[in-house]
Amino acid sequence: MTDIHRGFRDADQAAESEALFAFLDSADRLESIAICRRQMLALCPPRPGDRILDIGCGIGHTTLALAGRVGDAGAIVGIDKSRSLVAEAQRRAVALSASVTYRIGDASRLDFPDDHFDMCRTERVLMYVETPERALDEMVRVLRPGGRFALFEFDYDCIVVDAGNTALTRHILRQVANSIPSPWIGRRLPRLLRERGGRDMTVVPHMVATPLAMFRRVIGGTVGAAVENGALEAGGLDEWWRDLARSDTDGRFFAGFFGFIVSGRLAVEEAGRGGGKEEQGVGDAERGQGMTLARPSAAFCREPPRRWGKDRHAALSHASIRSLAAGEPTRG
Ligand SMILES: C[S@@+](CC[C@H](N)C(=O)[O-])C[C@H]1O[C@@H](n2cnc3c(N)ncnc32)[C@H](O)[C@@H]1O
Repeated sequence: MTDIHRGFRDADQAAESEALFAFLDSADRLESIAICRRQMLALCPPRPGDRILDIGCGIGHTTLALAGRVGDAGAIVGIDKSRSLVAEAQRRAVALSASVTYRIGDASRLDFPDDHFDMCRTERVLMYVETPERALDEMVRVLRPGGRFALFEFDYDCIVVDAGNTALTRHILRQVANSIPSPWIGRRLPRLLRERGGRDMTVVPHMVATPLAMFRRVIGGTVGAAVENGALEAGGLDEWWRDLARSDTDGRFFAGFFGFIVSGRLAVEEAGRGGGKEEQGVGDAERGQGMTLARPSAAFCREPPRRWGKDRHAALSHASIRSLAAGEPTRG
């Protein structure tokens, strides 16, 4: 089984580019990913004429969705470290005659001038970057003063799975978190962005809920590697997967990966470039530290679904997005 986390750290070294494409296509079909992207869009909508950068664009799912929303005067640009993923993104854009530009590039050394973009987004990328602070410095550098941003990153010490063996489950999930270069980027993102001049920030906790097959694709290769290097015992792991398979058969399986959507705009003279003259808004308890904590997204703060039906998630997410779009932050 492909270790997707190792793969996304260096997709061009991974023999299995096709497996990474297939993984990203499966992730794109998850309703909880679709909800996340709709919320990012609602919080940070593209405008005609915007120049938008998607950092770590993968095979281009979001850039393709944005194409056409900025008009002829705007531009959608995707960069990714992986040559093979960028080639696949380009192939898909050409097949769809989509007006998107892709480039190979590193989030920590963006090959664009200062103040070049009106909006930057990134999703599930900084967890793979050793020094996400440098990548955020770069994002702030290429974003114009007042420019807007929307990011979504997981917090890899916040994986939940309703498994039987608590001690073993913690041990397994710790192996997964330890395999990620920046497992705490989710919880750090609000602070790191504020320190770099983020203003009017909204933070939305979001859980990407996964059915068992996807859960296995996300962590299976990594825990398999932990068995090979002696950190996990094969017999115990096999029984753990069998237990999860039984709970899936009985309709009891429940698992998800928590992360945070953080959106906002750059201060007009942002702190990250030695300015920082713009005052934070006067805060109150709910808008403490210059940011609004919004209602957790997705349907999963309620009763978990017994079946992975689309309609229910979609209905709840629309309500949630409507309230966000209407500027109704809720008590965090
Ligand atoms: C989980 S995928 C997410 C792809 C895309 N954002 C999406 O939502 O479908 C992580 C992506 O980050 C890219 N990546 C990892 N490190 C990077 C870096 N330093 N600079 C740019 N891209 C990077 C990987 O090549 C991969 O495409």
